[in-house]
Amino acid sequence: MYIGSISTVRPRNRVVLASAASVAAVLLIGLAAFSFWPTHQAEPVSITPTPTAKLNSGHHIPLLGLGTSGATGQAATDAIVSAVAMGYRHIDTAAMYGNEADIGKALSAIFKEGFKREDLWVTTKLRTEDHAQRDVEPALRASLERLQLDYVDLFLVHWPVTNHPGPTLDPPMQETWAGMEGVAKKGLARSIGISNQSPEKIEKWFSNVTIYPAVNQIEMHPDWRNDRVLEFCKSKGIHVTAYAPMSSPGTMSKTGQHVPNLQEDPTILEIASNTNSTPQQVLLRWGLQHGDNEHVSVIPKSANPDHQKGNFGALQGTLSEDDFATISGFKFQQRFFIGAGGFINKDGPWYTYKDLWDEDPPENP
Ligand SMILES: NC(=O)c1ccc[n+]([C@@H]2O[C@H](COP(=O)([O-])OP(=O)(O)OC[C@H]3O[C@@H](n4cnc5c(N)ncnc54)[C@H](OP(=O)(O)O)[C@@H]3O)[C@@H](O)[C@H]2O)c1
Repeated sequence: MYIGSISTVRPRNRVVLASAASVAAVLLIGLAAFSFWPTHQAEPVSITPTPTAKLNSGHHIPLLGLGTSGATGQAATDAIVSAVAMGYRHIDTAAMYGNEADIGKALSAIFKEGFKREDLWVTTKLRTEDHAQRDVEPALRASLERLQLDYVDLFLVHWPVTNHPGPTLDPPMQETWAGMEGVAKKGLARSIGISNQSPEKIEKWFSNVTIYPAVNQIEMHPDWRNDRVLEFCKSKGIHVTAYAPMSSPGTMSKTGQHVPNLQEDPTILEIASNTNSTPQQVLLRWGLQHGDNEHVSVIPKSANPDHQKGNFGALQGTLSEDDFATISGFKFQQRFFIGAGGFINKDGPWYTYKDLWDEDPPENP
């Protein structure tokens, strides 16, 4: 399935429509920079189609989207404008990222230009402090207001974590999920899902729900294949979105963790060189092929238009079977987003790595 292969963009008076001067400036720069965006004609314009996967909710998620964690302010607004102009049709944000209002500015300007809401997929996520059933809808409504949207395509419970220490998850996930089902039934979120959840937690919490999670957004890259969770999700019809698909060097350097940067891995660099690709394209192609171009979407973050353009180019190629097998055989395996800094907490409910992830930390040589 493909969406967005044709986008009808009706040219209108940009100066009048882009109400905030800063947004107008960004848009004008963005529109000038990408030649497909119509400046004078009223005809539909062909753009690069983004492959999609059908979720258990019936909706189609574009398999390559734009991550936005760490991009705030004008940089986030500019990033959305440039990405949509060059063909991205899937934006991933979260209340926790503090950039929904910046993204909303860009979306508002883009839609005023005539871009159709239904041609864009927007995901946001519930904060850990909003897990009480009564808080879920107000939290989503606040996100929608910041994003200047009537609905999101996907609303995720960001972490199986709340702000209440103690021996058990409080409020319980069943209560949070009842709130999530409520916003889905009201059409405020077209699909609902989870993030950072293990097979055991999914079995425990979601076996008797009315609306089954459509997506589990999890860490996934060649140094953390996460096959156990992927295989479980596939068996249950839950689509996986791979976060940190390029090993998140920006976030990792801020956390001070010493983990490999796959964008500089010698094997990745060699495959990139042999295939006339960028290392980032190799990593993103691996992510898509790891899900058989169906079960996994990837959401590379970049606020740099040149990087965005290169990353989007990952859709135009595939790894050979040999290259895919080589990357899939990386011996070093380690979760980079381990939940330190509060999510694994001496006061509970997840006292240890194993409590949060329901598996032992991998042993590396
Ligand atoms: N659900 C969760 O708990 C969770 C956790 C983490 C992330 N996420 C989502 O997943 C998205 C992606 O993960 P991520 O942002 O952590 O990591 P990532 O996409 O693996 O890596 C992003 C980093 O790579 C750089 N980069 C991107 N393209 C590049 C290129 N072509 N050349 C050189 N550098 C490049 C970016 O810098 P520039 O901006 O300078 O290009 C940024 O520092 C996030 O943005 C967020 O939306 C979700």
